[in-house]
Formats: sequence, C-alpha cells, structure tokens
Amino acid sequence: MEALSRRKVLLAGLAGVGAASAAAGGVVLIRNAHEAGAYDAAVLDTWRHSDSFETPLPAASRELVRYATLAANSHNTQPWRFRISDRSISVAPDLARGLPSVDPDNHHLFASLGCATENLVQAARAFGLRATASFDAAAGGINVDLERSPPIKSPLFEAIPQRQSTRSVFDGRAVPFEHLRLLEAAGNGDGVQLRLFTERKQLEDILAYLVAGNSAQMGDAAFIAELKAWLRFNYAEALETDDGLFSKASGNPTLPSWLGRLIFGLVVTKDSENKKYEAQIRSSSGVAVFISDKNEPASWSAAGRCSQRFALQATALGIRHCFINQPVEVPAVRGQFANYVGAGARRPDLMMRFGYAPELPRSLRRAVDQVLLPA
Ligand SMILES: Cc1cc2nc3c(=O)[nH]c(=O)nc-3n(C[C@H](O)[C@H](O)[C@H](O)COP(=O)(O)O)c2cc1C
Repeated sequence: MEALSRRKVLLAGLAGVGAASAAAGGVVLIRNAHEAGAYDAAVLDTWRHSDSFETPLPAASRELVRYATLAANSHNTQPWRFRISDRSISVAPDLARGLPSVDPDNHHLFASLGCATENLVQAARAFGLRATASFDAAAGGINVDLERSPPIKSPLFEAIPQRQSTRSVFDGRAVPFEHLRLLEAAGNGDGVQLRLFTERKQLEDILAYLVAGNSAQMGDAAFIAELKAWLRFNYAEALETDDGLFSKASGNPTLPSWLGRLIFGLVVTKDSENKKYEAQIRSSSGVAVFISDKNEPASWSAAGRCSQRFALQATALGIRHCFINQPVEVPAVRGQFANYVGAGARRPDLMMRFGYAPELPRSLRRAVDQVLLPA
C-alpha cells in the first residue's frame, strides 16, 4: 500500500512538472529525467530484501507474497492471486491475465504460478517457516502449507532480488563444469527432467528450432497484437501499470507511446529478430530445457518451479539466463523439438539460454495489495 501510494505521488508530481515545464519549454527532456528517476525509485522499492525476518506470521506471509511476485512470469503479466490463511498461502491463477495467443492452454500461466511458488518456498525458510507446496487440482491452484522451522537464508533465497531475465548478447565464456553440476541439481525434480546443451553443434541445432518458432510467431498477427498490448515503450507507461515488458529491460530505447506503437512493426521484423537470436545463442554458454512427465497444469507448474530454481542458482553463481521459449510455444515446431531433445511423448515445457553478461534495467511488479484475495 505504502509503495503504491508513494508511486502515485511520484506520478502526480510528474504531471505537475510536465505542466510547468511545458510553459517554460524543454518539456520532453525534463519529463524524461523525472520519469527515469521515478522508475529507479520503483525498482529500488521492488527488488529488495525484507527489513526484518523476525516478524509474526501475518506480516511474514505478506512478505512471502511480495517475494513470490518477484518471480519470472510470461510477458510480465503477473497472472497470479494469493490468499493468505492462518498457516497457508494459496497461489491462484488470474485468468484475466492469460495470453490466449502465445499460451492458448494456459501452460505458461501455470508455469508462472510455479515460478512464484518456488520464490515463496525459498523465502519461507528465511522467515523460519518450512513451506510444503502441493497442486490442488480441484481448486486449480497451488497450496503452500507453512510450519515453524529454524530460519535459514540459503544462497537461492539471497538471489531472489538479484535475478532477472537478461535479454542481451552474452560474452561467450563457458560455464565451469562444477557450476553446470549445481545448475543441473537445481533444475531437476518433482517429475521434471532438465537437459543441458553446451556443445556448439547442439546450440546451432537449437538455434534452427528457435528461428523456426520465431518466424512462425512473427508471421502471426494475433501473436504480434498480444505482444504489443504488453509492451511498455517508456517509463511512464511502465509505471502506470507496474507490469508488462518495458523496452529498456529488453535492451531497447524508450520512445513516446504513439511513436513506439507506430514503428514497432517496421523495426521488429522476422529477420531482425532472427538475427538477434543468432547473436544471443552464439554468445551463450548453453541452453537448458525443462521436460515434465505429464502434460497437465500440475506438471506445468512443477516445470516452472524447476526453471525458477535453476534461475536462482544461476544468479547465485553470477550466471545470467533468459527464456527462449519459441520452440516449445509453436505446436508444429514443438513436436520436432521434442524428438531432438529426446523427450519421447513428453512435452518440453520451457527453455532458457545461460551465460555471462552485465545486468540490464529491471522490470516492475504490482504491489502486494493488488494481488491479494480476501482471506
Ligand atoms: C513461462 C514463462 C515463459 C517466458 N517466456 C519468455 C520468452 O520466450 N522470452 C523472453 O525473453 N522471456 C520470457 N519469459 C521471461 C519473462 O518475460 C520475464 O520473467 C518477465 O518479463 C519479468 O522479468 P524478470 O524475469 O526480469 O523479472 C518467460 C517467463 C516465464 C515464466
């Protein structure tokens, strides 16, 4: 609530600054600088550890929800709702935030709930709570039971506010063998198998599937319209909603909304995107593919949990990651890709590249009060 009202005050201030400087001229530059400042303040407020870990259960539960919202999630739609009860927290889908074009069966939506659950479970231990998560098929969500236990701040917990999806070219360095083993241990479990690919020939093979998936999506008007609806072309747009894909977080410049929407189709083309993915894969140390044992929401969320654990372990080791899900999103490509990774009849759920690179600007999250369901 506090964070939300602070942000609203900043935005209201911006409106005032904009009006005053319009009279004086130079409105664009001044506005931009103030919006960038407001964005930086929102980032600091979002990507932080709690001030105290010795809090009573109700306050700890709110903080656990905040940590959960810092998880990766498809298009940053944040498709979740949380209900805090006496000794449990339920993680429920917010179907209004689904992505019918890229994710028609809500696979990524349930994977995103799994990502949030993994953060919640990792954070619970820091508050002296043991969290046991189980998929509740009847309720269509995940239930996390909490019991008192000795507090432990694990490296994965410490990594939660440092993790980000880094959509840049990496530096091509190889990940040491012992770190690959740690990534493997983090990304397997609960019926989910992780397959790691690090040989150059394998990465070129995977690039061909990525290009096939991307080419199909870039030729799909519904996919593009949905993506555009979740793009945030400048600081003000991103601050207005606290969700979506902020241009700077993808390594792109900010633009006025009207200009961004107008030129998007001219600048972002099938060929430009395929070239970008070539450079991204060829500079990555490897690719991780997560394959769950059943094609149903419980398993999709288990794959999300494994991918989030992998991402946290990578972050703890100074390794960056970025999802590249096109080969598993386009059904015609997914079948061939399943053969390539030896998934048999199983569905490859998610995939990421990993390697080394500097951090990019951060994405935002909605405040806890906006994602809480009544108890
Ligand atoms: C199920 C799922 C699918 C995703 N697919 C992609 C993807 O294909 N490409 C991509 O760049 N990011 C993808 N992401 C990453 C999200 O866009 C990212 O988590 C979100 O924008 C928030 O940013 P953050 O991870 O830096 O906090 C995916 C995330 C999840 C959980």
